[in-house]
Amino acid sequence: PVLVVDFGAQYAQLIARRVREASVYSEIVPHDISAAEVAAKNPVGIVLSGGPSSVYEAGAPAFDSEIFELGVPVMGICYGFQVMARALGGEVAQTGAREYGSTDMAVGGDGGSLLSEQPPAQTVWMSHGDSVVQAPEGFDVLASTASTPVAAFANPSRGLYGVQWHPEVKHTQFGQDLIENFLHRAAGIPADWNPGNVIADQVAAIQAQVGSGKVICGLSGGVDSAVAAALVHEAVGDQLVCIFVDHGLLREGERRQVEEDYVKSTGVRLVTVDARERFLSALAGVSDPEQKRKIIGREFIRTFEQAQADLIAEAAADGDPIRFLVQGTLYPDVVESGGGSGTANIKSHHNVGGLPEDLQFELVEPLRALFKDEVRAIGRELGLPEEIVGRQPFPGPGLGIRIVGEVTFERLELLRQADAIVRAELTAAGLDAEIWQCPVVLLADVRSVGVQGDGRTYGHPIVLRPVSSEDAMTADWTRLPYDVLARISNRITNEVSGVNRVVLDVTSKPPGTIEWE
Ligand code: XMP
Repeated sequence: PVLVVDFGAQYAQLIARRVREASVYSEIVPHDISAAEVAAKNPVGIVLSGGPSSVYEAGAPAFDSEIFELGVPVMGICYGFQVMARALGGEVAQTGAREYGSTDMAVGGDGGSLLSEQPPAQTVWMSHGDSVVQAPEGFDVLASTASTPVAAFANPSRGLYGVQWHPEVKHTQFGQDLIENFLHRAAGIPADWNPGNVIADQVAAIQAQVGSGKVICGLSGGVDSAVAAALVHEAVGDQLVCIFVDHGLLREGERRQVEEDYVKSTGVRLVTVDARERFLSALAGVSDPEQKRKIIGREFIRTFEQAQADLIAEAAADGDPIRFLVQGTLYPDVVESGGGSGTANIKSHHNVGGLPEDLQFELVEPLRALFKDEVRAIGRELGLPEEIVGRQPFPGPGLGIRIVGEVTFERLELLRQADAIVRAELTAAGLDAEIWQCPVVLLADVRSVGVQGDGRTYGHPIVLRPVSSEDAMTADWTRLPYDVLARISNRITNEVSGVNRVVLDVTSKPPGTIEWE
């Protein structure tokens, strides 16, 4: 792999993704990893990430500079560039020249293997207080800016490179080209990480882990569990059984997508548990959002465990107990940087309700090394339906937390209709890529007066909450074209009885959350 040394979580994850976009497998490692531990991973290249610190700060993240002596090509970025400069005898100083945001950069000399085939003047994204004022001996300076004379350097014979700017962010022109130049030209790493290879590797790994054992998997209708189960099925066929709980809080068509489209494209054995009545009666009379969440989580676990127990009993009767449980854990769930220290640590993955402490299964986690976009690519490669693979985020408690007020069957039906109209119109307008997700919310406790035909109506409003976001931590409301909004509003008020008003939520996050509950 290419190892990405984590001096700051957001930076490291983004770099790791960009390396993979260059078709090279990458892994994130903590900054206090030793040279021996690095060597043991047989890396073909190393990238040092940016970070929040100054190399002179007390408590600046530790780094084993023996790593520069391993003969593995290294590229330092921002803070990583300064760490490299300082460790190898260059000079880093607080010059007072701080650069934040878009900065003009000029390529110097021939630019070396990193920059030679790129335009001589570029806009790059900077974020630094300290600067490298003198490159280490034996290094060529490759680029500069108005206030940073040493903005990039290289020592090709030792395979060491560094840039002050952030090539991993989209605001940097030719940033991805620079990363690819380091990987392919400077370090000579072939571009051979692709969905096809990942599938082949994972199938082999699953077969090795599971052998002839039986496996179960809960499907949610979402991307991760769908792709995880498809991979396991590819590996062990009908040793896998999937459980799908219909809690009645699903959107229009979701059950069919799983039961028909997904099953047809993968051939997995599926057990659907129809728990709609059970969830509705558990939710009767409840309006408080957190209480709804708790009830839904609890009922989900109970329903799932019951279905599981039935399958276990059936398998035991065959003399072949179920030993494995598939989880759709992704790489960002595994590598999570610890607070400001930049230390990578492990966080366990929690689906609805979390896993019980005394889990009697061995986990199968075929997506543990993957980012979301890679999971989608693999799902497409495996031929899964686009509705599932391309699905926008949808909360586990489903429509249950999109009805402000008590959840009833009639209200769910009404919301399902409105939601289906919104999704259809947004897709038809080609807006799916622009939107992170668009909750459609029924204000069941609010009524307003309207007029329809000759009559006065007294109906409920539907709220549209289209948001744009990178990670759901922050979000902005998506500026949808007026004509699309008009079409949605017309259709909902005409087609969904009981709704006489459509309103648009124009709040960013913060202060609003994405969901209303
Ligand atoms: P908020 O509303 O907190 O949502 O801005 C952030 C993201 O999380 C999703 N979300 C949930 N997902 N169970 C889930 O599995 C939940 O209870 C839940 N609540 C919010 C929300 O859709 C958004 O993507």
